Amino acid sequence: MNKVSFFAIPALVLLMLSSCYYDVEEELFPENKGCDTTAVSYAQAVKPILDSKCTGCHGGGSPSAGIKIDTYLDLKGYLDIDAARFVSSIVHDGNASNMPKGQSKMPDCDVNKIRAWVNAGYPEN
Ligand code: HEC
Repeated sequence: MNKVSFFAIPALVLLMLSSCYYDVEEELFPENKGCDTTAVSYAQAVKPILDSKCTGCHGGGSPSAGIKIDTYLDLKGYLDIDAARFVSSIVHDGNASNMPKGQSKMPDCDVNKIRAWVNAGYPEN
């Protein structure tokens, strides 16, 4: 570690702790406390959520509404066409049909993780 980062990192941390206002997702969405939305992994986070809540309908040979999202490439194909609609469907903002269909909204942390991953350009990570 060079001299600059040796001092800069603690200084940054102090700045973040002491500043009176910061755009931290946890502060904007208090219910999201403890939910880590940085560097969300497709394999570790996104896929398991989709597999438990979505791919029963949106997978296999005859997916609902022709929307197949059970593999990375299928999901990417849909997101390339309409990522905004995908996000709307899980955040329930009224711009798409609410998903998972016929069920309540997924827990905020799951929604926020998937949204963060989509906004990060949906990497295959
Ligand atoms: C019970 C079956 C079912 C489940 C579970 C389900 N969907 Fe759907 N989904 C549908 C059907 C049917 C449609 C066609 C539109 C409609 O009927 O609302 C649809 C439509 C969509 C659309 C298009 C919405 C629009 O307005 O055009 C998206 C995006 C979507 N689903 C994503 C998801 C995601 C993400 C999940 C999991 C969080 C999910 N779906 C879970 C059945 C389901």
